[in-house]
Amino acid sequence: MRMNMEWRHAVVRTAEEVAVGVRLVEFDVEGPLAPFDPGSHTHIAVTIDGARAIRTYTCVPAPANRIAIAVKLHPNSRGGSRFVWSLKPGSTVELTVPENRFELSWRADRYLLIAGGIGVTPIYGMAQRLAAAGQDLRMIYGGVSRAVMPFVDELGGLLGERIELFPADEGRSFDLAAEIAALPKDGEAYVCGPLGLLEAVKTLWRVSGRPVSRLRYEVFGDNGRYAETSFEVSVLNRGVTITVPPDQSLLNALIGAGVEMIYDCQRGECGLCAVRIVETDSDVDHRDVFFDEDEKNENHRMCACVSRLTGGSAVIDIGYRTE
Ligand code: FES
Repeated sequence: MRMNMEWRHAVVRTAEEVAVGVRLVEFDVEGPLAPFDPGSHTHIAVTIDGARAIRTYTCVPAPANRIAIAVKLHPNSRGGSRFVWSLKPGSTVELTVPENRFELSWRADRYLLIAGGIGVTPIYGMAQRLAAAGQDLRMIYGGVSRAVMPFVDELGGLLGERIELFPADEGRSFDLAAEIAALPKDGEAYVCGPLGLLEAVKTLWRVSGRPVSRLRYEVFGDNGRYAETSFEVSVLNRGVTITVPPDQSLLNALIGAGVEMIYDCQRGECGLCAVRIVETDSDVDHRDVFFDEDEKNENHRMCACVSRLTGGSAVIDIGYRTE
C-alpha cells in the first residue's frame, strides 16, 4: 500500500533522446497544476509485462502545467525505463502531482551542486532556480562521456563558468575533498548520482566536520555495487518462497506473490518497505540511503524496493512491522 497521492491523466507532448540513452518525455497534465519546486518527483503508472506498476521519476524543468522527466534506458531495466522509452507523442499515462523530498534550503551562503550521470535530473532544476535567484553556486557534473550526459548545453548556457564538467573518457574526475573544503562554513551541498558517489561525499562531509543538515542527497533506485542476478527468498511463517529475477525488485516480486507490503518511495529513501533478514547464504547489495553504513554491514534488514541479494537465498520476516 502506498501513501496518499493525487493522480492525474496526462498526455505525452514530446519524447526525444536528449543524450545517448536518455529520453526526455514531456507531458501535458489534465487540470491546473500548481508550480512545484526543483527536486520534485512524480509517480507514473507503468505497464510491465501486462501488469500495472508504479515508478518514480524526478521532474526536470518544464513550462507551466507540464511535467517533464528524463529517463535513462537501464540495461537491466525492471521495466519502468522500457515503458517510458516506449511512449510516443499522444500516448496517455496516469501520473501523480509532483511532490518534493529533496528540497533546497534557501539558507546557504553558497551551494555546491554535484551531479553524477542521470543524477543531473534534480540538480538541473536546482541550478536553474538558484541562478535565477542570484544565489552563489558551483555545479560539478560527471559522467562516462559528454555524449551520455543530458542537459550539458542548457546548463552551460545557464551557469557559464559556474559549472565544470567531468567526463570520465576525457580523464576528468571530481576532487570531492577539495570541492567540500572550498565551501564556506555555511555552504551546502546537494548531490544526486550513483551510490558510490553519494557514499564518497557523505564520508568526506563527515570527515570535514560539517553539519549533516547541510548535505542533502538523492540516490537512484536501480544502482548498486553488483550486477542484478536472480535470488530466492522465503517469507517466514507465510509459506511463500519466490525467485526474484534480475529485472524485478524484491518488493514487486513479493507483491506479485500476494504478500501484503507497506511501501512508498520505491527509491530506497523512506524505509517503509524494509524487511528483516532472518538468515541468508548471500551478500546483500544494499542500494538504499535509508540505513546507515553500520546497519548495512549488519545485514539485519534491507529495503525491498531497491536492495537485492547477490545470488543464493534468504529467509526474510515481514511480520515485525505489523506486530
Ligand atoms: S519504499 Fe521507500 S525505501 Fe523502499
